[in-house]
Amino acid sequence: MSLETEIQRRRTFAIISHPDAGKTTLTEKLLLFGGAIHVAGAVKSNKIRKTATSDWMEIEKQRGISVATSVMGFEYKNFKINILDTPGHQDFAEDTYRTLTAVDSVIIVVDAAKGVEMQTRKLMEVCRMRKTPVIIFVNKMDREGKDPFDLLDELEQELKIAVRPLSFPINMGAKFKGVYNIFEKKLDLYMPDKQHITEKIEFSDINNPELEKVVGEQDAAKLCSDLELINGVYNPFDNNEYLSGNLAPVFFGSALNNFGVNELLDCFVKIAPPPKPIAAQERKINPLEENFSGFIFKIHANMDPNHRSCIAFVKICSGKFERNVNYKHIRLGRMMKFSAPTAFMAQKKETVDEAFAGDIIGLPDNGGTFKIGDTLTSGEELHFKGLPSFSPEMFKYIENADPMKTKQLEKGIAQLTDEGVAQLFVNQYNNRKIIGTVGQLQFEVIQYRLEHEYGALCRWEAISLYKACWIESDNAEELDNFKRRKAQYLATDKDGRDVFLADSQYVLQMAQNDFKNIKFHFNSEF
Ligand code: G4P
Repeated sequence: MSLETEIQRRRTFAIISHPDAGKTTLTEKLLLFGGAIHVAGAVKSNKIRKTATSDWMEIEKQRGISVATSVMGFEYKNFKINILDTPGHQDFAEDTYRTLTAVDSVIIVVDAAKGVEMQTRKLMEVCRMRKTPVIIFVNKMDREGKDPFDLLDELEQELKIAVRPLSFPINMGAKFKGVYNIFEKKLDLYMPDKQHITEKIEFSDINNPELEKVVGEQDAAKLCSDLELINGVYNPFDNNEYLSGNLAPVFFGSALNNFGVNELLDCFVKIAPPPKPIAAQERKINPLEENFSGFIFKIHANMDPNHRSCIAFVKICSGKFERNVNYKHIRLGRMMKFSAPTAFMAQKKETVDEAFAGDIIGLPDNGGTFKIGDTLTSGEELHFKGLPSFSPEMFKYIENADPMKTKQLEKGIAQLTDEGVAQLFVNQYNNRKIIGTVGQLQFEVIQYRLEHEYGALCRWEAISLYKACWIESDNAEELDNFKRRKAQYLATDKDGRDVFLADSQYVLQMAQNDFKNIKFHFNSEF
């Protein structure tokens, strides 16, 4: 197969949802359809048990298991599908944000009864920012949920994206009869079954009298009027609008009952994008270029304190990666070859000889060789634009609790923040280090790992902050003035950029009012 064909047939995406909406179940059913697994239940080990949500050691153990399922590759109808897993626990949302930089599209799972939930809203913001194409799967139609039209409105308003149903349900809950697949012009009749594919009936003409025979007079009439309404309210599906991230097609189904999943997958391979060009600081990289290039978007540490080994996950941006071939680690400025790159097929992790743009490979790293955002190339000096940092939600001063271990603590903090466990800010006024996280668990992870991997002890001190804002301005004088006035609240991030630490929403608003020529960004990618 030519390089171009190999790359064009790749579809790399992530499934995101608020916990419990059905992400794990949907992932598993997609793998079943792809023939990558043969029994339901196989992906469950990937899931963080609800009973253990406050016990991060348990979570880490399960995350350890989930290395193998971090990427799930499988073949489907001549496509090579790569599903990137995202952590279910919201305290690891930052991991998810970074994973989203490595995908070409996203499927969002929404619970039909709960509608759009907090985590979904946040993740959608990241997709919107990056113009990532999204497909929405409304799950759990076998249960009573919100009215589908209300749900569509809610999706549009809450996720701030135009929607277009490509399937539509006939009732829900106990009376759920199936969905009409608008994309394929087929009626899919629902039969609750966790293992098998349900019956499909072709209906190119929805007014076909056969419809009444199959779903009953009342439901047939309702479906016809619903579809009429859809066609009246929504524009015809426009693939380009979807590809530009402006329009989200919506499917309805029940992942648990295997219903609507095959339709989703069939439509997905038809409309979802192959690997896209990616911007480096120097130029735009086309995936079809001969030369290899890629970047590290995730580092997974082994929780075994006896050998501090990591896997660095590389998104291949262009060309072909080969085992034992020399590639340039741009930040370190040296050539390196990798004898044991791993690829991920279904749930197996195996050494591979080659991988192509769109694929994700894992590189074992025992010595802190990689940082999040590092670029590897065939030789060209390229720097993929830094992965975005988002303003953390929680902040604490980190203090040394064992003066004999200062060096170890410094090293530990540097390496763990390079790995992306949390963000580090250094206060420019007093030089104190501030750790920013999305959730409490990250503080516990850092403390534990500092002690067990670096032999260092830390202590946390409270600091009340609202947001970290990356600041920039064309007006140097105003920027200087601002920095002088707010000296106590200025910090430097890991890349040396200025960050304003606002202690309340009010203070931030005042700053925005008083300094009109300064831009305050909630993420580092602007
Ligand atoms: P998540 O990864 O998004 O957190 O969700 P997950 O797939 O684990 O699903 C959360 C719960 O919702 C699970 O039940 C799962 O069985 C159920 N579920 C998923 N899809 C459907 C669906 O289409 N219909 C219905 N009725 N339920 C669905 P659980 O009881 O929490 O877990 P388990 O004991 O089944 O593993």
